[in-house]
Amino acid sequence: MKDIRRKRVAEILASGSALAGETVDVKGWVRTRRGNKNVQFIALNDGSTIKNLQIVLDLSRFSEEELKPVTTGSSIHVQGKLVESQGKGQSVEVQADELEIYGTASPEEYPLQKKGHSLEFLREKAHLRPRTNTFGAVLRIRHALAFAIHKFFNDKGFYYFHTPLITASDCEGAGAMFQVTTLDPENLPRTEEGKVDYSRDFFGKHASLTVSGQLEGELGATALGNIYTFGPTFRAENSNTPRHLSEFWMIEPEMAFYEIKDNMDLAEEFIKYCVSYALEHCADDIQFLNDMFDKELIERLKFVIHNDFVRLPYTEGVRILEESGRKFEFPVYWGVDLASEHERYLVEEHFKKPVILTDYPKEIKAFYMKLNDDGKTVRAMDVLFPKIGEIIGGSQREEDYDKLMGRIEELHIPMKDMWWYLDTRRFGTVPHSGFGLGFERLVLFVTGMQNIRDVIPFPRYPGNCEF
Ligand code: 4AD
Ligand code: MG
Repeated sequence: MKDIRRKRVAEILASGSALAGETVDVKGWVRTRRGNKNVQFIALNDGSTIKNLQIVLDLSRFSEEELKPVTTGSSIHVQGKLVESQGKGQSVEVQADELEIYGTASPEEYPLQKKGHSLEFLREKAHLRPRTNTFGAVLRIRHALAFAIHKFFNDKGFYYFHTPLITASDCEGAGAMFQVTTLDPENLPRTEEGKVDYSRDFFGKHASLTVSGQLEGELGATALGNIYTFGPTFRAENSNTPRHLSEFWMIEPEMAFYEIKDNMDLAEEFIKYCVSYALEHCADDIQFLNDMFDKELIERLKFVIHNDFVRLPYTEGVRILEESGRKFEFPVYWGVDLASEHERYLVEEHFKKPVILTDYPKEIKAFYMKLNDDGKTVRAMDVLFPKIGEIIGGSQREEDYDKLMGRIEELHIPMKDMWWYLDTRRFGTVPHSGFGLGFERLVLFVTGMQNIRDVIPFPRYPGNCEF
């Protein structure tokens, strides 16, 4: 092999005929090999783009014996001249001079043969599925969205604030936390009352994996002004749905001096930015998913960018649902925690637009939300999306010490773990707001995939911790 710099397939295809005549060096995995006794064609993919690079092998230069191990899934290194392609489907191709085989993939054993596989089958092969067109596309889009999120906030002067993953407080108060302990479950230390003695545990107290970085995010916002978190969160709810994971990534901006309207404006601008970014930077991958799985995907993405979100109080939303005449699986009444079918009715059938629902009954929302003057509702905001339902949950926070204490007492939240949070309200308290975007729900929306387990490389859900 000659000593020339390797090019990624994306780079070669982007340069197109400008590189024609040059000798190129490429490495990747064989998607297919076909041909006849005179010439063989390899579709080579290296993960840099959904597109394959065609490698042409003249059988006067390469023996059939030599090419035998070059099967679907094998990995190779090729050098050859880039030429304009005669065939249709590609503008350029490589006429191979040299071929090196890194690794074979036995056709009898390699599970990703040419025929299309169901997403369910691929979920059982999650260690290999990134090599498929579909998952390559999804994972490149996922990357682009993560990058867009950092760019959006950085450009706006928000600071990326790292909140802990191990915590002793339950932000959402739902009790759906995974415990973190080094105690021996076969031999637990006990207090005199017979309870587990967590004072003898690793942290000297009962600890869990976080369900949200918000409470610590508020500490950041009330010092740095505007912050965001972007990290893994964990929920031990037994939710076996296409929209829930046990481990998911959440983005939580938190802003001092923002009221609920500022919070809604930011959420809307943020989502539109992310969707536009993906449309602009992942055009090939989105087009592929549009053609393969969801013919309305691109239309839906553009629709979200170009329309204002509807803003509506919960009370009015419930009235619309009650008057819809629709028979829902779960009944609707004022005070109910809306189910996905209710949210999707409002978005997909009634308004046909994304909806920001606000001012929910305090009973169905977390303790930290700002109480409205009616004493019954809180300044919450959920952003509801077509196909997804809730994509963002957020609120203005209760900044008044006494009112916040009132809620903490009503809900019997253990005070000993909350003293530091309350200090934000004791010292220089300010109006502030924030929200959480479920990253995988955003990726679901942008890719048009149906199941959240297919938009994260290695999903965690009840009964599954493989890979
Ligand atoms: O509505 P949630 O529970 O809100 C919070 O955690 C707040 N502390 C956020 C904040 O105000 N800073 O979760 C926020 C979002 C949801 O809207 C949803 O998109 C996503 O996180 N989410 C999940 N995504 C995947 N799997 C799960 N089990 C999820 N639970 C919530
Ligand atoms: Mg929520």
